[in-house]
Amino acid sequence: ASSIEIASLDNWEAIETAIQACTACELSQNCTRKVPGTGNRQADLLIVGEGPGHDEDLRGEPFVGRSGQLLDRMLAAIGFSRDQVYITNIVKCRPPSNRDPRPEEALQCRAYLDAQIALLAPKVILSAGRVSAHNLLGSNLPVGKLIKQMHQLPGTDIPVKVTYHPAYLLRNPSAKAIAWQDMKLIYRMLQ
Ligand code: URA
Repeated sequence: ASSIEIASLDNWEAIETAIQACTACELSQNCTRKVPGTGNRQADLLIVGEGPGHDEDLRGEPFVGRSGQLLDRMLAAIGFSRDQVYITNIVKCRPPSNRDPRPEEALQCRAYLDAQIALLAPKVILSAGRVSAHNLLGSNLPVGKLIKQMHQLPGTDIPVKVTYHPAYLLRNPSAKAIAWQDMKLIYRMLQ
């Protein structure tokens, strides 16, 4: 279980402060800036990525690099701007050389994500990519399988739509057609 004091994470300031002070795993030793999350704290849509990359680490904000620009275009396609949604990641500190977060790192950081989800109470979660989907759903199935049906965040009734990570879409543009269907589904769910 996480060593983070979960009970006190009952407001956004407490979450931010705790993340900024966090030393629960070694990712905290090597990052430039913590990346707690950004956007609208009343949002219906929560987007959960993997972890900060190079640009996010420098800025302290999620999805601001090339992946983020594509994410912005995906949101714009259904009439959303990034400040209408809430955006965060499985881990709030950049893994060195962009390696996958380790299971114990994701587990430590989970208290923050759970606190963010509890405060936000989103109508739907868009889970971007394998690391996000596997951690949120507790599954090991490939994204290509998970993407085919709706899921629920375990222990809640919050629907989770898995989609391809923008970084994957940049490498595999042919997958954009499926991601576009996912965005349209999200749009309908939020009507
Ligand atoms: N990729 C992610 O998963 N998250 C970010 O914040 C940026 C890139």
